[in-house]
Amino acid sequence: MYEKFYGFNEKPFSVTPDTKYFFASEKHKEALDSLIYTVQERKGFAVVTGEVGSGKTTVWHSLLHSIESTTKVALITNTHLTPKQMIVAILEDLEVPFKEKWTKVKLVNALNEFLLEQISLGCNVVLVIDEAQNLDTASLEEVRMLSNLETEKEKLLQIILMGQPELRQKLSLPQLRQLRQRIVVCYHLYPLTFAEMINYINHRLKIAGANGEKVFNPSALSKIYNYSGGIPRIVNILCDRALLTGFIRETKLISENIIDEVANEMKDQIGPDNEEYRVQSREWRVETGEKIENNICVHPKHVV
Ligand SMILES: Nc1ncnc2c1ncn2[C@@H]1O[C@H](COP(=O)(O)OP(=O)(O)O)[C@@H](O)[C@H]1O
Ligand SMILES: [Mg+2]
Repeated sequence: MYEKFYGFNEKPFSVTPDTKYFFASEKHKEALDSLIYTVQERKGFAVVTGEVGSGKTTVWHSLLHSIESTTKVALITNTHLTPKQMIVAILEDLEVPFKEKWTKVKLVNALNEFLLEQISLGCNVVLVIDEAQNLDTASLEEVRMLSNLETEKEKLLQIILMGQPELRQKLSLPQLRQLRQRIVVCYHLYPLTFAEMINYINHRLKIAGANGEKVFNPSALSKIYNYSGGIPRIVNILCDRALLTGFIRETKLISENIIDEVANEMKDQIGPDNEEYRVQSREWRVETGEKIENNICVHPKHVV
């Protein structure tokens, strides 16, 4: 609607994880690289956590574009599943034939056979579980069992768990200690810094066809950062609505007043204040003895 007014080819701030718009901030790039490493080196188990809208699904979509075509992927997004339902969902996604009446053990055997066959064909198989914070302890324990499927040399199934910060709390439960020990890479996607957010906004504007003219004045950018806490999803929501408001008022330079106004209108979607949460997420650390190196926690057992 407002694209033409600003001279864009399309809307720059949609909230779908479109890889064309992927902004490789240091954090997103590190998260992506650590996933590529886990998959390509067949390391077995990776966890990516981050607030809603921090870019987990976007990173995962970019991973899909970077991995070899011989890699098969099972994606689980419905995480309110029993362990058996989860195995069934994986088999369905990988198109492995099975019968509903089979016991869970038989289903896992079918999966194991499929994985062995794939490895003999030179293929790699990845299981991605999004919104994994919803998995209950029994299903997480089942994930651990799946991570046991291996040959003498390598893991048969590469597993990526993605979820909100609660996932980290869940993984630190004493009964999940064995699962925790299997995690090779654990990455928390922190919100963007102010400088990163400005680059992020400019990056999206450029891809949408902007001609480089200033769209947000400096105070508007500061306001966007204050309201969003650097969470890309909220940045998008605010910028998109601000551009619409600018269009309606026939002003091409977005001021801080417009940001205040739209933030107020969209309170329900952006939350009243992200400050407390921002501090919390920065302070979060895994309490399991992992070594934390630049935000990537590498379990001591697996340091390469
Ligand atoms: N690195 C990034 N590059 C481009 N857009 C991003 C990036 N990270 C997040 N976004 C934007 O923010 C939105 C929310 O990100 P998403 O990956 O869905 O977050 P999460 O899965 O963590 O809730 C995406 O739809 C996308 O538009
Ligand atoms: Mg997501």
